Amino acid sequence: MSHELRTPLNAIIGFSEIMTGALFGTLGDPRYLQYAQDIMSSGGHLLSIINSVLDLAKTQSETLTIEAEPVPLREVLSECGRMVREQCTRGRLALTIGGDPAETVVMGDFGRLRQIFLNLLSNAIKFSPEGGSITVDIAPGTNGFVTVSVADTGIGMRPEGIPIALAPFGQIDSRLARRYEGTGLGLPLAKAFIEAHQGRLEIETEIGQGTAVIVILPIATPAQIRPGPDYLPVLSLASAASA
Ligand SMILES: Nc1ncnc2c1ncn2[C@@H]1O[C@H](COP(=O)(O)OP(=O)(O)O)[C@@H](O)[C@H]1O
Ligand SMILES: [Mg+2]
Repeated sequence: MSHELRTPLNAIIGFSEIMTGALFGTLGDPRYLQYAQDIMSSGGHLLSIINSVLDLAKTQSETLTIEAEPVPLREVLSECGRMVREQCTRGRLALTIGGDPAETVVMGDFGRLRQIFLNLLSNAIKFSPEGGSITVDIAPGTNGFVTVSVADTGIGMRPEGIPIALAPFGQIDSRLARRYEGTGLGLPLAKAFIEAHQGRLEIETEIGQGTAVIVILPIATPAQIRPGPDYLPVLSLASAASA
């Protein structure tokens, strides 16, 4: 299924990219260049929607797999910060990503963790008017979990809006002339990815005041980070048993 959807799109994106770059000569009328650019950016947009819908199908059929390895939380967050900083500047939003003196390491899938925080950051940006601020904080882990909050000073939500926001395709303002773009998949996917990491997502929000999305993730144990001597015998025992 995914192959059937992605292959034609890759042709659309790839060939429009070649045309945009005029790789085999100029396009003639300048309007063709504009069209090629539009095809390329629309194709990219469509591909990201298709990827989200396919991810949603995976979470709903419980075929979503997480390739867990030790991941330093700071690395994920600073990469996300680099990816959205430009967008924040354009939206006149101050972005602050707090430090992590504890150097927290979680067991997770780097790409999925990045997707979680990108989805949350893109909402914080989209739903915050100019002059606002977005703050990402890592709270020191208690009883094996770390808490990361992505907080904004944006439009906020009413309590009854929260379940709508968390539902697939759910958007609180569903009027035809909706002010904000999107498909309503960012938050439910973030929640599903967090739960696939044995974590939890919580929302604290107040209409007109802002929103904080709290991500609670299990911290990797020392044995998971550095499989030591007490880890290896378990492995050899298992292989001995299965031999
Ligand atoms: N930080 C936020 N501030 C205010 N509303 C939010 C925030 N994040 C999510 N929402 C609400 O939840 C809805 C669903 O979010 P999401 O699943 O990411 O979809 P999308 O961003 O495509 O609309 C949004 O349309 C919006 O109404
Ligand atoms: Mg979103």
